[in-house]
Amino acid sequence: MEDRTILSVENLSKAFGKFYAIKDVTLQVPKGEITALIGPNGAGKTTFYNVVTGKYKPTTGRIVFEGREITGLPPHKTARLGLGRSFQITNIFLENTVEENILAALVAYHGRGLSLFRGLNAYRDLKEEAHEILEMLGLADRAREVAKNLAYGDKRLVEIGIAMAGHPKLIMLDEPTAGMTPEETDRMVAMIQGLFQETGITFFLTEHDMKVVFSIAHRILVLHQGSLLAQGSPEEIRNNPRVREAYLGGSLDA
Ligand SMILES: Nc1ncnc2c1ncn2[C@@H]1O[C@H](COP(=O)(O)OP(=O)(O)OP(=O)(O)O)[C@@H](O)[C@H]1O
Ligand SMILES: [Mg+2]
Repeated sequence: MEDRTILSVENLSKAFGKFYAIKDVTLQVPKGEITALIGPNGAGKTTFYNVVTGKYKPTTGRIVFEGREITGLPPHKTARLGLGRSFQITNIFLENTVEENILAALVAYHGRGLSLFRGLNAYRDLKEEAHEILEMLGLADRAREVAKNLAYGDKRLVEIGIAMAGHPKLIMLDEPTAGMTPEETDRMVAMIQGLFQETGITFFLTEHDMKVVFSIAHRILVLHQGSLLAQGSPEEIRNNPRVREAYLGGSLDA
């Protein structure tokens, strides 16, 4: 039996004190698609992300990834199972080169350490793999650049490269285009679409820019005050009166 769902959450809640940032959310993320989670500021998107990837433990509910319950597992364990993530705030080693950043992530993934015992061949394999990842991201010519010297958009691409190095089955991006210029945004969107087509990895992203959401997502989930307000195709979401009401101000028409 082939299961088309890669991630499923049931009755998920997360409370901070008495305040519920996530309230009884049940949803499924289909495999091999790009799903966008949208919602106004403070809707609970990043919290959802943090609970699913294991940074926070849920207050109630269950999380199942690839048929296996992962509720409460810490981030390094969910990552090991194939749940890749990138953060709303960049998370790269700024003093190291682009290539070293990817290599460090590959070493962590393959668990080899850089021991001499393993020899140079293992290291050469990793370098090759790092190069393939940088090629996919269009960063091959920046490999030797110290990360802090990169433009903001390129730094965020390195972050995605770090996530890719963990061989994810599902990659969760929190606002991949936040703070970007229109040109950087276009490039990021093209990159996500290219990676999706090339690798078939399932993508899950949060995003405020409706133009990006409607151009990239196969399926949209709408979070509002911690609850799931709607889910459906971009067309269904665009025409949903409850969603339109939650987005007073008309950003859906962007
Ligand atoms: N660690 C925390 N402790 C207490 N409250 C928190 C914590 N993290 C988030 N919250 C609260 O939970 C609510 C949801 O926040 P969250 O960051 O998940 O929203 P968001 O949808 O990601 O917003 P944005 O679009 O601005 O990124 C907010 O009211 C926020 O203040
Ligand atoms: Mg957020």
